[in-house]
Amino acid sequence: MVLFSAAENKSFPAGTPLDASKNDSLLFSPITTRSVTAHNKIVVAPMCMYSAENGYMNDFHLAHLGALALKGVGSIFIEATAVEARGRVSPHDVGLWEDGQIAAVKKVVEFIKAQGSVPGLQLNHAGRKASMGSPFSGYRLILEHEGGWSQDIVSSSELPMNERHANPRALTVDDMLLVKQKWVDAALRADKAGVEILQIHSAHGYLLHSFLSGNVNNRTDQYGGSLENRLRYPLEVIKAIRDAWPAEKPFWVRISSSDFKNDGAFSKDDHGWDIYQSIEYAKELKKLGVDVIDCSSGGILPDVKYPVGPLWQVPFSETIKKEVGIATGAVGMITKGSEGESILQENKADFVCVARQFLRDSGFALTAARELGVSVKWPNQFERARQ
Ligand SMILES: Cc1cc2nc3c(=O)[nH]c(=O)nc-3n(C[C@H](O)[C@H](O)[C@H](O)COP(=O)(O)O)c2cc1C
Repeated sequence: MVLFSAAENKSFPAGTPLDASKNDSLLFSPITTRSVTAHNKIVVAPMCMYSAENGYMNDFHLAHLGALALKGVGSIFIEATAVEARGRVSPHDVGLWEDGQIAAVKKVVEFIKAQGSVPGLQLNHAGRKASMGSPFSGYRLILEHEGGWSQDIVSSSELPMNERHANPRALTVDDMLLVKQKWVDAALRADKAGVEILQIHSAHGYLLHSFLSGNVNNRTDQYGGSLENRLRYPLEVIKAIRDAWPAEKPFWVRISSSDFKNDGAFSKDDHGWDIYQSIEYAKELKKLGVDVIDCSSGGILPDVKYPVGPLWQVPFSETIKKEVGIATGAVGMITKGSEGESILQENKADFVCVARQFLRDSGFALTAARELGVSVKWPNQFERARQ
């Protein structure tokens, strides 16, 4: 049974200025990457919801992400999606490690598309931070008899995150080839599901970050030591995925711009991971055909005090954009339309990525438009509430 036609939503989606000739907002102007155009530059950043069963998305994800798509956001990233079962952060992560999982992702993707938003998806391997409980079930190691895989945790090295996490095994070079293929296979499944933007998670202390950062990577082979060696595996993986991902579809990489080992966003951490090494990494990513760097930070060292506050990570985005000449996404405590607009006006990013504010206000894109005085389309079904 067809309950309504989504065609009108899609051709003139919510969040589009009603009169484009009177709109001087950058936030509410379209942006095209490769063949994909988002009708505004607001992006829902990936957010784990710990609500999948055996990696399968379900009605929760449709309702949650569908509500955001209805209310005018340009692009939406589906949460960190595991490329293999042991690469889940928690037993309830979304996954794309088997073909059966494609249909559930496709259902959500098609709904997002039908509203005129661009569906993206973030692929992840949690590495040494895997087999944990969700924050709302107690963030602790989940053991085998509880449905975890705490004896099968892999990382660049044998260093655990802390005493609350599992002791990882360092991947051998042969294992690394197998894991690389898992990333590629999962990307191909995302393509089959209709995902339009792929994002690779190389941040927050997960597997790829554990290779990049000398704070964790203590390998003595060609994948450890110098910066060139630490970049090697993430670049090999990302090259393989980019080559497999359709050329016409955009490709993002999320980075932790700094580990914050030493105080200050721009302090040096030569043998660990800092913004200066992130710049070199981003230059290499650009050569591989990566379109956008999503500039996050941290997540790899225990007990770090982050200098959190409004727009606190925007300087990373600004720096990567200027030093590398690549499009960036800024993220981190962006909660107002005016903040997003000024980030773009000051050329500090190309996309404004917002996470928690969308959990507080699923209509954040419409709220931001109102705050900026941009008169935008509302979903047809909600039009009577616009004034
Ligand atoms: C509930 C929740 C889940 C998250 N899950 C992910 C994730 O799956 N992948 C990721 O890269 N970041 C994840 N993050 C980080 C967000 O994408 C974002 O970078 C961070 O929350 C800062 O943005 P904000 O201040 O707008 O929330 C998550 C954050 C929250 C609050």
